[in-house]
Amino acid sequence: MNIHVPDDILLMIPGPTNVPKPVLEALGSPSFYHRGAAFKELLEFCTEGLKKVYQTANDVLILTSSGSGAVEAAIVNVLSPGDKVLAIVGGKFGERMRDIARTYGAEVEELPVPPGQAADPEVVRQLLCDHRALLFVQNETSTGVRQDADLLAAAARDIGALSVVDTVSSMGGMPIPVDEWGLDSVASGSQKAFMLPPGLAFVSMSEKAWEAAASAKMPRAYFDLVAAKKSLDKGQTPWTPNVNMIRALAVSLELILAEGLENVWRRHHALGEACRAAVDALGLQLFADPAHASDVVTAVHSPNGLDSKELVSRVRDNHKVLISGGQGELAGKIFRIGHMGCCQLDDLLRTIEATAVELNALGFACPTQDGLAAAQGTYQAAMQ
Ligand SMILES: Cc1ncc(COP(=O)(O)O)c(C=O)c1O
Repeated sequence: MNIHVPDDILLMIPGPTNVPKPVLEALGSPSFYHRGAAFKELLEFCTEGLKKVYQTANDVLILTSSGSGAVEAAIVNVLSPGDKVLAIVGGKFGERMRDIARTYGAEVEELPVPPGQAADPEVVRQLLCDHRALLFVQNETSTGVRQDADLLAAAARDIGALSVVDTVSSMGGMPIPVDEWGLDSVASGSQKAFMLPPGLAFVSMSEKAWEAAASAKMPRAYFDLVAAKKSLDKGQTPWTPNVNMIRALAVSLELILAEGLENVWRRHHALGEACRAAVDALGLQLFADPAHASDVVTAVHSPNGLDSKELVSRVRDNHKVLISGGQGELAGKIFRIGHMGCCQLDDLLRTIEATAVELNALGFACPTQDGLAAAQGTYQAAMQ
């Protein structure tokens, strides 16, 4: 095979992320039988680990799919065609939730939120009336915005509606206490803060969500979570799972729990703060409202009408660092730096330097050393 896959590029995109060596080694271990005792033990270990990350007493189901599969499962298992739902849409992934719900026949009312802004929970509260569910993305990866998931879920709960939440890019990297915040069905994916390649997805269901599942009529087969739960109780999955990925998940969970969840969240928060401080020191503008800025991805306005695609290419080709451009209407207008998973300060500093050097080369004068100093100082202060 002569397909060249670059393996020397630092991934600073908002997923897939870099994968630590022990996780890669687990991926390369021999395949094994998914109906045996070893798999049962592995599945139980991973489920327990995921429950800790999700901070839930309920099971977290493991699906062999990308994150969108978990989002779909979180929707179709609790709703019926014709159900009225409110979907918060402030970017690409809010659109995706809305579209999945529509595809399965929900009556979707949309709350558009300007890209870069979070939804106002009071506005959401006023809009909610006879809705069956509130759908939202806790961390909108396309804009770098974090929603007030606790307040949004409370607004839904107060009218008896379910909260269906996409945490694909944030679960593991930010504290999202699922039970404390009362989030009902919560989706996440492997290739972000979990430090795995793409291919696994996770969903938790509250008691209220399981009650809804008993009468929910949206069609489902592969993503039937009642079937997944029944199998889990026997230490299995309904379909053949990606056994190597689940073995690697066990290793990534071990790494996360060995570092300590609080420490992992603190490191992500410090990286987010450091990245934002560097953006400011370089004379650039954050795209997201700073009060709702994400700790796992930072979106930045491309300066002086510069096409961010050009910047992304130069940073990749000249520095072997991959950052992201914008998606959809934001293509060319913003660039995004992912700082999640096993990302460390040195990775962020290398990215800031590469970005600043290329911005200078493209005619936007920015003080590289100031950016680096701001990132370093802010990171250290936040880690205290
Ligand atoms: C917030 C969010 N939701 C959903 C997805 C979709 O996940 P996947 O591409 O794994 O299907 C992504 C992927 O970037 C995401 O960031």
